[in-house]
Amino acid sequence: MKNIVVLVSGSGSNLQAILDACENKVIDASVAAVFSNKSDAFGLERAKSANAAAHFVDPKAFESREHFDQELMNQIDRYQPDLVILAGYMRILSADFVRHYQGKMLNIHPSLLPKYPGLHTHQRAIDAKDSEHGTSVHFVTEELDGGPVILQAKVPVFEDDDPQSLASRVLVQEHQIYPLVSQWFIEGRLNMIDGKAVLDGKELGAHGYAEE
Ligand code: GAR
Repeated sequence: MKNIVVLVSGSGSNLQAILDACENKVIDASVAAVFSNKSDAFGLERAKSANAAAHFVDPKAFESREHFDQELMNQIDRYQPDLVILAGYMRILSADFVRHYQGKMLNIHPSLLPKYPGLHTHQRAIDAKDSEHGTSVHFVTEELDGGPVILQAKVPVFEDDDPQSLASRVLVQEHQIYPLVSQWFIEGRLNMIDGKAVLDGKELGAHGYAEE
């Protein structure tokens, strides 16, 4: 059985979608452990309910980002993960951490990348009067939210949307596409080669699979 390790900072609804997909054999792997940089992340409770190990690693206990990430790597590697999933993990990663898991670490970001890397993506889409918004699953590279996109899902933006209503609509899509992409990786259909996402031997375009 392949092992997944998930990193969260908050609610962990994407983690829940991954846990459910493992339980229902939609993903042919199990979540061995969940790590959080926030002691009160609800994702840790979700992990415990699913009998996955739940760990809080306190950033305040380390003198630098590099030291924290080194300890996190040590702890993660005890589970020998085949795949590391960032699911609402809201910390900048050190270069060493990214390199260590390069090619087997995925992130989900709430925008149609390359639009709106960084924070406040829903507010930015509303402010720009975008008619559509969405989410992207991508491989993690050293460029923040800049790794190759694997799959995106779009949602409409309505006139009366606020960031919360738009975020909820995006989350519904995230819960669909993240387990799907995770299973592609677990099945061995998905790789990162020369900085490009490759699915079934075909290099994916800038917007990932199903590019228009
Ligand atoms: C998700 O919308 C995810 O795309 C976003 O945080 C939310 C976490 O929700 N991630 C980022 O913004 C990463 N830059 P969840 O904790 O309920 O899964």
